[in-house]
Amino acid sequence: MFKKYMWYVVMAALLVASILLVACGGAQAPTVTPQPTKPPVATKASQPTAAPATGGKLEIFSWWTAGGEAEGLNAMYKIYNGKYPNVKIVNATVAGGAGSNAKAVLATRMQSGDPPDSFQVHAGHELIDSWVKAGKMEPVTSIFKENGWLDRYPKGVIDILSYKGEIWSVPVNIHRSNVLWYNKKVFADNGLKPPTTFDEFFAVADKLKAAGVTPLALGDNGIWTANHLMESVLLGSMGPEKYKGLWDGSTDWNGPEVKSALTTFAKVMNYVNEDHAALSWDQAAQLVADGDAAMTIMGDWAEGYFKSIKLKPGVDFGWVPSPGTAGTFIMLSDSFGLPKGAPDRDNAIAWLTVCGSKEGQDAFNPLKGSIPARMDGDRSLYDVYLQSAMDDFKTNKIVPSLTHGAAASEGWVTAFSDVMTLFVSDKDVAAAQQGMTKACVDAGVCK
Ligand code: GAL
Repeated sequence: MFKKYMWYVVMAALLVASILLVACGGAQAPTVTPQPTKPPVATKASQPTAAPATGGKLEIFSWWTAGGEAEGLNAMYKIYNGKYPNVKIVNATVAGGAGSNAKAVLATRMQSGDPPDSFQVHAGHELIDSWVKAGKMEPVTSIFKENGWLDRYPKGVIDILSYKGEIWSVPVNIHRSNVLWYNKKVFADNGLKPPTTFDEFFAVADKLKAAGVTPLALGDNGIWTANHLMESVLLGSMGPEKYKGLWDGSTDWNGPEVKSALTTFAKVMNYVNEDHAALSWDQAAQLVADGDAAMTIMGDWAEGYFKSIKLKPGVDFGWVPSPGTAGTFIMLSDSFGLPKGAPDRDNAIAWLTVCGSKEGQDAFNPLKGSIPARMDGDRSLYDVYLQSAMDDFKTNKIVPSLTHGAAASEGWVTAFSDVMTLFVSDKDVAAAQQGMTKACVDAGVCK
């Protein structure tokens, strides 16, 4: 009897201690809280384990405000709310595609010791060079291990999230950058087929121009969309091996392939909407949706946008790899990280657990216009475009996106953007080539 009583006392003390531990939060590793009254139950690999998110708030920082991307984010919030109803989500967004405004705001906050609980960051150089090497992040390897995720993600994805033996963020998706989207009705009305090479592109563009339709929609009020178009043109002009070599210094920025890509880009600019410098990427996509423009070259978040305005993939809009890039997939991945000093760390760990789960990714990606970063996504939830992207990601050559953080450091991307800002208006091929060569040297990659 006394023994049994003592057992209760010990268990109660343990329980109180574990509650205190949860309340103190701060120094905890991202592990499941010990449950003294029951033996630990093994969690299913595909199910998020519960971090002790019991109340308070969760501030998530991103730039997802446009159609498709905002809906995708909300779908993950809904899952989080269902699991942790007492945690108030603060949706800290800064509008501007590709983080064109958000990244500067984030940098200021991080420098002044005011991190959000978790923030959107591209896998690859953007994550590692900007945040991990600067000592601003906590590793999330233990979250991967606890949830049995290590073999759920492609090795190549884990590799670009890793540094010094640790994983540093949780990827939510894979996006494709090199896609040409087109208005099916405009193409059918003009008896056209989507172009697969730049020769075909210019032939189609001339016909569209003659018919009074803007051939290519561009919205470069943030210069990143010109970079985005340029990376597709670089790949289409030189192929995957030379393109990859641009980012490790083995392809000469001063060589004939880059010159030819710049010449093609300058020519493409003769076929874009006149007000391109005033529009955003989604406003450019809207031109295609309305039939005022026939095509746009944009990442597959444009697919999320088209669907958010109720267009049907394969019916209202079609897609092909951007000219000259069939068989190659320019990839990028959005991920969320755990900044050091996150004010609501436990809630952030619970967020990351939702982000990395099958449930989270299968809710987010069909709306976002991306495919899950996990390999076990439920294919039946994805539309005809996304299923084709899933297949291409498995079979194509994969190369990294410059514009979206995978190929090069932020400093290099900024220098490249500065060159593009001038090039878009002066179309001076020689000056742009010189500027891009210098950007590679300044990044410490080219000699
Ligand atoms: C990219 C990001 C995408 C999408 C796009 C436009 O950088 O990876 O998820 O948000 O910007 O905002």
